[in-house]
Amino acid sequence: MQAPKVFVTRRWPSEVEAELAARYAVTLNESDRPLSADELMAALRDYDAVLPTVTDPLPASVLGVTPRRCRILGNFGVGYNHIDIDAARQAGIVVTNTPGVLTDCTADIAMLLLLMSAHRASEGERLVRTQAWTGWGPTQLLGNKVSGKTLGLVGFGRIAQAVARRAHHGFGMRILFFTPSDPDPAIVQTLQATRCASLEELLAASHFVSLHCPGGVATRHLIDARRLRLMRPDAHLINTARGDVVDSEALITALRERWIAGAGLDVYENEPNLHPDFLELENISLLPHLGSASAETRNAMGRKVLENIEAFFTGREPPDRVV
Ligand code: DGY
Repeated sequence: MQAPKVFVTRRWPSEVEAELAARYAVTLNESDRPLSADELMAALRDYDAVLPTVTDPLPASVLGVTPRRCRILGNFGVGYNHIDIDAARQAGIVVTNTPGVLTDCTADIAMLLLLMSAHRASEGERLVRTQAWTGWGPTQLLGNKVSGKTLGLVGFGRIAQAVARRAHHGFGMRILFFTPSDPDPAIVQTLQATRCASLEELLAASHFVSLHCPGGVATRHLIDARRLRLMRPDAHLINTARGDVVDSEALITALRERWIAGAGLDVYENEPNLHPDFLELENISLLPHLGSASAETRNAMGRKVLENIEAFFTGREPPDRVV
């Protein structure tokens, strides 16, 4: 029997590329540049499995290509808001993702941004790098203390809980959270966390707000001008979820007019073409979507995709099936 044909849309760590190539007839995107809609349609037309990632928008217009050979999208990543899930379901395409393996890494990046924003680390590094630093001063670059402060988590899934563990047990922070689903009471108890009845209540009470909800239509601009206005003037907003959860224009105004003290972003609307005004602001720390960017994690993500397509092609239920 011929090995299934598999198309990988971006370069992966070499270890997992080699494992893939040992099992399947694999085509890699050697150039590693994000593919166009036409290129993605060609892949769906010619391959049994396409392994996309967050940089590959797959709307109904792309998924609806005919004829189509592809029967499974093994997404390299936990978030799948770049895939039109209803269109995939209707077309009978199985979609899988990679939950769990990037929880710690993403939580680490959320804490990194929280600390960077609180302590004005990006401003400080710019000062040093531009050789404008004239030496220590008692009032220089004063930030906000983190230990003992209140952290509000929007969403309370795996990554939010991992952030809560770091913040509560490591920094003695008080944890608030807002989520539509019902969390495990034992976890809430361990973290001594308090559930807020509304997002508004959480925003008003938190020194740090960290976003951990999925992207997509339901959460687009969840954090808008009205909600930013509810935050404390010494508060910091951290986003490692998806860029479109925050209205960029509103956040820029909030930072410029000091409705809030600072922000730390790892994700952006219209990524990687972030709003140019972000670059003009001092009180923001900007990272290039590093949430899962450790060698260990990217390898683990690749292995998860392998497990999922292996299950699919041997007639078993893929462990991380989304649809
Ligand atoms: C994900 O997995 O959704 C991240 O954003 C990319 O690693």
